[in-house]
Amino acid sequence: MNIDWSILEQRARLAANAAYAPYSHFHVGAALLTEDGRIFSGCNVENASFGLTVCAERNALFAAVAAGARRFAGLVVVTSNPQPVTPCGACRQVLHEFAPSFEVRCYGHAGEELITSCEELLPRAFVAADFRS
Ligand code: THU
Repeated sequence: MNIDWSILEQRARLAANAAYAPYSHFHVGAALLTEDGRIFSGCNVENASFGLTVCAERNALFAAVAAGARRFAGLVVVTSNPQPVTPCGACRQVLHEFAPSFEVRCYGHAGEELITSCEELLPRAFVAADFRS
């Protein structure tokens, strides 16, 4: 699949602008492309009860799954910091469930591009086969 990464980055930046992050002031946006060409975005949503915060990546994925998407082609994550960051451990596990091998591209605002995948970010992930044996 030929992916227009710049559109995904644009959508992720729009989502990051909508982040609700009054505690960390760290804005994150994610844009997820489905194999049938749809884009779902998400931002981090924080809470006064800090542990209830949900990351941008999981919000994007859950919106996609709620709309019936199961097969994904790529993910872009952008942050309000200069340097790119990769998805947190919880998001790696959740993304891996649906898309172990797709490309994940991460950007800050200083121009650096970090390209990776869930398999690389979470080697030996816990998978369904581990408890179905
Ligand atoms: N955050 C994300 O949205 N995605 C990540 O991959 C890392 C962390 C959010 C959660 C919280 O709102 C803020 O960044 C600081 O941890």
